Amino acid sequence: MLDLSALPPGFIWGAATAAYQIEGAAAEDGRKPSIWDTFSHAPGNVDNGDTGDVACDHYHRWPEDVALMRRLGLDAYRFSVAWPRVLPDGTGAVNAAGLDFYDRLVDALLAEGIRPFATLYHWDLPQALQDAGGWPNRDTALAFADYAAIVAGRLGDRVADWNTVNEPLCVSWIGHLEGRMAPGERDLTRAVHTSHHVLLGHGLVNRAIRANARLAPNVGIVLNLSPIEPGSDRPEDVAAAVRADGHTNRWWLDPVFGRGYPADMVECYGVEPPVRDGDLGIIAAPTEFLGVNYYFRQIVVDDPAGTAPFARQIPVPGSLETAMPWEVYAKGLEDILVSVAGTYRPASILVTENGSAWHDTVEAGGEIQDKERTDYLEGHLDAVRQAVLRGAPVDGYFAWSLLDNFEWAYGYDKRFGLVRVDYDTQARTIKASGHRYAELIAAHKRSREAVI
Ligand code: IFM
Repeated sequence: MLDLSALPPGFIWGAATAAYQIEGAAAEDGRKPSIWDTFSHAPGNVDNGDTGDVACDHYHRWPEDVALMRRLGLDAYRFSVAWPRVLPDGTGAVNAAGLDFYDRLVDALLAEGIRPFATLYHWDLPQALQDAGGWPNRDTALAFADYAAIVAGRLGDRVADWNTVNEPLCVSWIGHLEGRMAPGERDLTRAVHTSHHVLLGHGLVNRAIRANARLAPNVGIVLNLSPIEPGSDRPEDVAAAVRADGHTNRWWLDPVFGRGYPADMVECYGVEPPVRDGDLGIIAAPTEFLGVNYYFRQIVVDDPAGTAPFARQIPVPGSLETAMPWEVYAKGLEDILVSVAGTYRPASILVTENGSAWHDTVEAGGEIQDKERTDYLEGHLDAVRQAVLRGAPVDGYFAWSLLDNFEWAYGYDKRFGLVRVDYDTQARTIKASGHRYAELIAAHKRSREAVI
């Protein structure tokens, strides 16, 4: 029995996607390659050699996808704008056809009463900017703001809700230190420089939206956060947990909330972020909300032979794991929401992503009885409810993801959707979890005191 009555009456129910993961049409209407086109086409980078060339063909099937959102009863849809569609060379000439696509999508969402939440950077840096130095180059942050100004100028008369950057941790640490995501680099100095330029980009984009959007904007950065626990009481493991928390959480939260970069982590990396006068003020300028993506907690042990932050995540024996395989731990969502609310006091928090991949099976009748995903969804919504009861100002939840999609280096095998996509036919089928989400949304809307 899931009692959602503690959630605020205006709680925003949404689902999220990202451009490269669903759009396809990679070379259509003037779009040029991003770093993810380059990365996915290089052999060995993505499971099964999958690419986002076609993905869910959302670029052509968006009317059907908006209709699915209406069937689910969503209040809001979080999508990302593909920079290489709008500015194929990263800077310079605007590609009108690219902007038109998002213009049509926004109009269709509004016609269905669905609030558009636009993310400006979900990892698809135009390849031309990578060739000019990528995120380690400060100019990329300036180009990001110019691109954001163009998008806000065009859509900002109808879009009020903006996410600047999605998961700077993945851009910086996974893309530039671990090499598991585009652009596939393994260089600590370049990773630290990336992290600063991505955060600077967030701050500059925050400004650019306010200067160019007609509607009063709600702006927020989206951070993927994890509660961190030491694997034992050994002082080495306790210290490793502090470093892992610095690497995963504090490195992003501290500068965004005006505390600057954590000194212990600058020491741990041995690399100074390339901060210039005024940068920290730009990064810490006020925003309306903080976006939190949550997938798992981390239990870590000391790893002196590894790379920064010299902490290694260890598995939790006996735990239930998703197909990723990530531990299912709903309490971690409650914990991170409560701790961020207490430490940094954001005005509002949105859970901008949460969801799980499973090995779905299609029944003879065509339905998908994804009990694990449904249980995961309910468990994590209950965690949000608990966090609200403990005083965290959580005002919305976006399920990841609306559709099965291109799960980056894992390709299409990992399915996160509330809606199944048959990649042979592009047929969409709402899974049992999607139907359950629709019920929960409807029940919460019917009554603040909903007890389901
Ligand atoms: O698919 C990704 C998404 O693009 C960013 N956050 C995590 C999701 C699941 O891995």
